[in-house]
Amino acid sequence: MDALRAFFDHLADEWDAQQPPDREERLREQLSLFRPLLEKSRRVLEIGTGTGALIPLIQEAVPQAIMVSVDLSHRMLRRARQRSLAASLLQADAHFLPLASQSVDLVICHNVFPHFRDKPAALRELARVLEEEGHLLILHDLGREQVNAIHRRVGGAIGNDLLPPGEDLGRMMAEAGFIPLRITGAEILNGGISPQRRRRRREQREPLRSPRLCGELTCRFEAQLR
Ligand SMILES: C[S@@+](CC[C@H](N)C(=O)[O-])C[C@H]1O[C@@H](n2cnc3c(N)ncnc32)[C@H](O)[C@@H]1O
Repeated sequence: MDALRAFFDHLADEWDAQQPPDREERLREQLSLFRPLLEKSRRVLEIGTGTGALIPLIQEAVPQAIMVSVDLSHRMLRRARQRSLAASLLQADAHFLPLASQSVDLVICHNVFPHFRDKPAALRELARVLEEEGHLLILHDLGREQVNAIHRRVGGAIGNDLLPPGEDLGRMMAEAGFIPLRITGAEILNGGISPQRRRRRREQREPLRSPRLCGELTCRFEAQLR
C-alpha cells in the first residue's frame, strides 16, 4: 500500500493537467445518469477523490447531502483542498474506513476500484459503512479494456490494478451483500463517440439522450445493499 500511496503522491501535481479539457462536462453527464439516486441521498461517501474533481459536481447535484471524500494520498488531498475549501476530506484506506457502520447511504468509487488491493475485502468494508439498502456506484471515465491497458502500460505500483469483467465484479458484489442493479460498459472495447459528435454536443450543448451513449465511454456499476 505504501508503493501505491507514493505513486499517487507523485502523480498529484500532474493529474489535473493530464485530464481532457471537457472533463467537467463529461463527469457531470456521468452523474446525471444517477440523478434520482443522488437526489434521495443524504450522506455521501466518495472514495478515491484524488484532486477532488467530483466534489463540486456531487455538491451541485446533491446540495442537501453531507459528503465526505476519502483518499490514500495526502498530496492528492492537498490538491482537493485547493479546489474545494469547505469539503470534508479524510486520508484513509478504503479497506479500513474510520467511519461508523451504517453511517452513509451512498458510496461513490470513481476511477479507484481497480486500485483496491483486496477487492472482496474493500467491498465488504463499503457494505459495512452503508446503511441498509444503501447504494454503491463504481464509476470509470473509460471502458474496462482501456482502463486495464493504461494500468498495464504504466506498470510499477499500478501495473496489476485491473478491473475485473462485469460478471466477476457482479459476483464479488453479491458475496459482499450487494444486489447488482446495473452493469454498463464493462466489456466495451475502445468505445467512444466520434470527435465530431463530441464537438457538436459541446457546441450545441446537446443533452445526453440515453445511458447507452455514456455506456460507450465509461464503465459503471450500480449496486444496492441487501
Ligand atoms: C486514478 S486516481 C482517480 C482520482 C479521481 N477519482 C479522479 O478520477 O480524478 C485514484 C485515486 O484513488 C486513490 N486510492 C487508491 N487506492 C485507494 C484506497 N485503497 N483507498 C483510498 N483511496 C485510494 C489514489 O490515491 C488516487 O488519488
